[in-house]
Amino acid sequence: MTRESRRAQAVKASPTMAITARAAALRREGKDIASLSAGEPDFSVFPHVEQAVVEALRRGATKYTASAGGPELREAISDWMQGDFGVRWPAAQIQATAGAKQALYNACQAILDEGDEGVIFNPYWVSYPEMVRLASGKPVVIDLRAEDRWEPREEDLQRAFNERTRILMFGSPVNPTGAVWSEQCLRTIARVLEKWPRVIILSDGIYSRLVFGGVKAPDIVQVAPQLVDRTVVINGCSKAYAMTGLRLGWACGPKDIIAAMNKVQDASTSNPSSLSQHAAIAALRGPQQPLEDMRVEFERRRGIVVELLRGIRGVKCHVPDGAFYVFPDVSALLQKRYKGEPVQTSVRLAEILLEEFGAAVVPGSAFGREGFLRLSFATSEAQIRKALERFARFAGALE
Ligand SMILES: Cc1ncc(COP(=O)(O)O)c(C=O)c1O
Repeated sequence: MTRESRRAQAVKASPTMAITARAAALRREGKDIASLSAGEPDFSVFPHVEQAVVEALRRGATKYTASAGGPELREAISDWMQGDFGVRWPAAQIQATAGAKQALYNACQAILDEGDEGVIFNPYWVSYPEMVRLASGKPVVIDLRAEDRWEPREEDLQRAFNERTRILMFGSPVNPTGAVWSEQCLRTIARVLEKWPRVIILSDGIYSRLVFGGVKAPDIVQVAPQLVDRTVVINGCSKAYAMTGLRLGWACGPKDIIAAMNKVQDASTSNPSSLSQHAAIAALRGPQQPLEDMRVEFERRRGIVVELLRGIRGVKCHVPDGAFYVFPDVSALLQKRYKGEPVQTSVRLAEILLEEFGAAVVPGSAFGREGFLRLSFATSEAQIRKALERFARFAGALE
């Protein structure tokens, strides 16, 4: 007999974590593993951010703060968000959280009732469907296509909504495809939503600063300001400021929704770490050049990854405009055999690649999409070259 709640049973263990854990275990055994599976920048925290944490610790900033984050942090978030998205959310409409993940989680808990539907897109970031399920909701999935540059079609959007839909959750730049959704795409979403005034949008901009080739990642509230009353815009320091472990994100949104999210946070975790709050103030208010240097380096590595992948027979690779992932089509490789065994699935491909060739990637099925892989270029050029040389050897060994 299980001792797990039905809610917990409905949640799948994170498949990206599983690959990372297996790669780490192989490394502990002394194997040389080149990993392109990481979902975090390989950069250290910026020097002025590090200094702010040390100073905050020395000053004794180690007590509880307001559950939604201290006023100084929420002012810094308010200014930063206005600078990036042109909308001013007052501090009372901002909740600071332990990472963007907690902001999305709080929003799902605050909005969804049992049986309510949450619309998401496939391929999805692994946590979106699980967060809907944890709030006793039902994920409803819209399939995207590579030939549409991974943007949704209007007719598919129209079919997804009904009177039970309470949220639409998405982020651009997209994890795992690296797509940046155009203004036109966001306008289409806004047009479809006109018919569904009860739907709240959870707009996840965690990669908004990591865009390439002069592309900008607009938020839906910029192209459809009429939606600001029913949009929760989520962002954070994890990706842009290389602060994944410090766990500092936030949500900006309508008063009533943020108030409901504050109740969820009050009753569960209280404030995000006081030291991380000081790190975030320094990151948001301090010099932005280290972020730009990191972005430029990611852009350079993007070029290397795409070029190397395109050199492998059976791999089709688009150029991602944002985040730090490529999502190549490897369906031709799945038709082949390795040592007589049909490869068939992206999970098996990733296993063979890891166990036999020492390269870690994430199977597309983790994101709901068979036939693809997610490769991260948030790792050194040397690791990228080593991993892709191994991938090429693997592809060459298939019959
Ligand atoms: C699309 C997306 N949203 C949110 C997050 C979570 O960010 P955080 O580390 O701030 O919780 C991630 C992290 O991988 C992500 O890919």
